[in-house]
Amino acid sequence: MSATATSAAAKTTERIEHEGLLEVRDLCTYFKLSQGWVHAVEDVSFSVSRGESLGLAGESGCGKTTAALSVLKLLPENGRIVSGEILFDGRNLTKRTEYGMSKIRWKEISMIFQGAMNALNPVQETGKQIAEPIMLHEGVSESKALDRARELFELVGINPKRVMEYPHQLSGGMRQRAMIAMALACNPKLIIGDEPTTALDVMVQAQILELIQRLRTELDLSFILISHDLSVMAETCDKGVIMYAGKIVESGSAEHLFRNPQHPYTRQLIKSFPNIHEKREMVSSIQGDPPNLLEPPPGCRFAPRCDERVADCAAVDPARIEVEPGHFVSCHLFKEAT
Ligand SMILES: Nc1ncnc2c1ncn2[C@@H]1O[C@H](COP(=O)(O)OP(=O)(O)OP(=O)(O)O)[C@@H](O)[C@H]1O
Ligand SMILES: [Mg+2]
Repeated sequence: MSATATSAAAKTTERIEHEGLLEVRDLCTYFKLSQGWVHAVEDVSFSVSRGESLGLAGESGCGKTTAALSVLKLLPENGRIVSGEILFDGRNLTKRTEYGMSKIRWKEISMIFQGAMNALNPVQETGKQIAEPIMLHEGVSESKALDRARELFELVGINPKRVMEYPHQLSGGMRQRAMIAMALACNPKLIIGDEPTTALDVMVQAQILELIQRLRTELDLSFILISHDLSVMAETCDKGVIMYAGKIVESGSAEHLFRNPQHPYTRQLIKSFPNIHEKREMVSSIQGDPPNLLEPPPGCRFAPRCDERVADCAAVDPARIEVEPGHFVSCHLFKEAT
């Protein structure tokens, strides 16, 4: 077999069948500390189809960012994917080398990082920062990449004449739009937005969410939206995943989760937003604290804070039960239909 035929065969065998565009299966990601391993993400599974938007929600520290960084294999030095699989568009990312991942990042999956609008380089023109990944991945000149940056500014609703302005010359909302432009720069199939609206005031939040919705439809993009704010997820996503202390406690369509939440944790999260359309508050009203993930407790991790706990909760890991088609809950209050 010729070298070309061998490499074509290798490429063919690399492709795998899986659900949707992205499928995360039984992902466990830990961080090493001197005291031991932080079990930040444990047995997490979800999938995103083409053009679909998935919300990832839960209190601070529940593992949302870690799950997202695992998908891109951009974990901090002490982070490890210890088990599970991440399948994207027919390829197993878990097995990819750093070089292999560099071909996927920005070009196929891009991410708006948490707090990113404040992470733009203050001493470089905004458009040049957007042009960088375009030059790197598309191999085009700076002037061509800047033309694309202007187009992207227009697409996200910033006057393209402002492309050479420094970040401090743009408002917070515009900086966030610029970050979205950067995420779109190389026409990815999937964008992960990690709290893309959290630092913005309510009016600007709404405009950014509208922009994301419009771009999703126009560009047929898949989107993972990370937020601790369930109202944001309800308004933006097709389906959602609720995480607590590294684990998924409930998942289903946005409609299931917001109109018919089942897990006591999801119900309490929703209660902390008394009117999801008008009032947005920080998730602070659930009594108690999440467990120490260096030594996660056995059984349901929410048990110590749960008003509805039963005898099994503190000792036995709850099974994942399908309470209605496509709506799953991991809680001892629910039993498999017999
Ligand atoms: N580099 C690290 N080393 C050790 N522990 C870490 C590291 N990064 C995150 N963690 C821990 O992993 C857990 C999950 O963190 P993560 O940042 O994914 O949560 P999050 O849901 O994104 O929270 P937030 O809403 O505050 O952004 C937390 O317990 C956190 O303290
Ligand atoms: Mg986070």
